Amino acid sequence: MPTGHLYITRDLGPEPMRILRNSGRELVVHPHRDLPPTRHDLLNGVSGAAGIITLLTEVMNAELFDRAGPQLQVVSAVSVGTDNVDIEAARSRGITVTNTPDVLTDATADLAMGLLLALNRRIVEADAFLRRGESWSWGPRVFLGRDLAGEVLGVVGYGRIGEAVAKRARAFGMRVIAAGSAPTASGGVERMPLSQLLATADVISLHAPLTAQTRHLIDAEGIATMKPGAVIINTARGQLIDEDALVQALKAKRIRGAGLDVFENEPLIHPGLLELDNVVLTPHIGSAGEQTRTGMALLAVKNALAVLDGRPPVTPVNG
Ligand code: DGY
Repeated sequence: MPTGHLYITRDLGPEPMRILRNSGRELVVHPHRDLPPTRHDLLNGVSGAAGIITLLTEVMNAELFDRAGPQLQVVSAVSVGTDNVDIEAARSRGITVTNTPDVLTDATADLAMGLLLALNRRIVEADAFLRRGESWSWGPRVFLGRDLAGEVLGVVGYGRIGEAVAKRARAFGMRVIAAGSAPTASGGVERMPLSQLLATADVISLHAPLTAQTRHLIDAEGIATMKPGAVIINTARGQLIDEDALVQALKAKRIRGAGLDVFENEPLIHPGLLELDNVVLTPHIGSAGEQTRTGMALLAVKNALAVLDGRPPVTPVNG
């Protein structure tokens, strides 16, 4: 392995990789585009690195920082969430951590609305029905779902993405309520404690970061307070929900449905979820718009090169 190199845990696409190649830095790129490095390959890859550009699938902890060595200056995450990075361990070693906020706000909010539309209007179920070749005719009760207009959306974690979902929901005629800290709060959104939000909302959409405090924020007790017709959408982090409790509630039809882009033990999917019609599942694709992913990679590259060149990064997490 070289030393002082920049280790990149996946090919980031043509434009970001071109900028990296032109930077004059020595690059080591994990060769598989869609599969993460094994822990063994990762630890070998970062050994001696001055910088790491990482995806959310790689755990960046004290063990890894020590393996990299004292010359490691920056861990640049290609994600807004940095729950895969031990920020404290980085801080204590003088390593700058950066992330990619803003560029993925719209794409993630779009997917949250997509999951909501799919659930409320039963789009995935209806598609499967037609593909099975079932006989059908237009009928007043065929695949009846729920209108969006008039429903109450409860946003849990009213940051940039929560606000973008609220904006979209209002355009669909929904009333928006919110719980959680509100750094970017705008008018027209009623605030309330989480317990009240869970008991009030028809649709609950999660946008909180994963921390020790938010793990299982939605647990069996919280689910029990939801309205029987409620649906829950999660495009944030799977561990915000106690998945066992959710599966039980969905099986018992205690709540109406769930739209999940993220999972508690990602990439494993709770087997109970796979058996249910009242869930729509997507493989953590909230930010998977072509322009968005390029934007994320470009920002991550900019952040990494800035730190290595002795300049302040654009979006530091622990700066
Ligand atoms: C993030 O950036 O944290 C998202 O989960 C990636 O889509």
